[in-house]
Amino acid sequence: MKTLSQLHQMKRENEKITMVTAYDYPSAKQVEAADIDMILVGDSLGMTVLGYESTVDVTLEDMLHHSRAVRRGAPNTFVVVDMPFGSVGIDMTTDLNNAVRLYQQSGGNALKVEGGHLTPFIQQATHMGIPIVAHLGLTPQSVGILGYKMQGASKAAATKLIEDAKAVEKAGAVALVLEAIPSDLAKVVSEQLSIPVIGIGAGKDTDGQVLVYHDMLSYGVDRYAKFVKQYGDFSVGIEALKTYHQEVKSGMFPSEAYMYQKQIMGEFND
Ligand code: KIV
Repeated sequence: MKTLSQLHQMKRENEKITMVTAYDYPSAKQVEAADIDMILVGDSLGMTVLGYESTVDVTLEDMLHHSRAVRRGAPNTFVVVDMPFGSVGIDMTTDLNNAVRLYQQSGGNALKVEGGHLTPFIQQATHMGIPIVAHLGLTPQSVGILGYKMQGASKAAATKLIEDAKAVEKAGAVALVLEAIPSDLAKVVSEQLSIPVIGIGAGKDTDGQVLVYHDMLSYGVDRYAKFVKQYGDFSVGIEALKTYHQEVKSGMFPSEAYMYQKQIMGEFND
């Protein structure tokens, strides 16, 4: 498993960091088998595997359930777990209690939180020994306010994002995810921070990239953001299911090769 200090060293040595989301045992196994550096148990699981409209419906229980399965599938990969909507940003005691529970019980190596306003929480959690990854730019838990669109476009918004990025680093964040911001802004942030900056829709100059498993493998997704590259096509599963359906209907499956031998039943019939 990559340690935090190895991930930080990768930034210093200009070695790009790879991160992919995983939400269950088989996806985690695949991501680990592909030697991806980090797994994110993203609250995007609300849409990708639970069929919700947004991440807002995801609960702490959902995150615990899926993270544990991911840990079983990828015992040797650095796992980051999202703190879901409503589990943080309430008050410091509630936030820390939720963070402790998620960190202790999820099997994750770090937690991720969205938004610069959580800088004081990042500081407290860090003091308690919980590694926190910050997430700035497009923060999907705030979709009701921000919408799904590029952030940091104006000079004022870009300046605020740079300030927030510096603040979360100062508060102790171990890494930063930047989502859906102009590439040149992401470059500036990555250069000015000493912690690894992982981008999604943030251009090529961040220290690493993250993509959502179901997006990159075309698995049950109907709409794709501009920044998604589809590396595989799991929709072939539909063809396999159709063939199975037809073969059962026509009596073609199961053929002899998929049956237990008849003489055993013969003994029961005697
Ligand atoms: O939940 C998620 O998948 C994320 C990524 C988009 C970074 O936060």
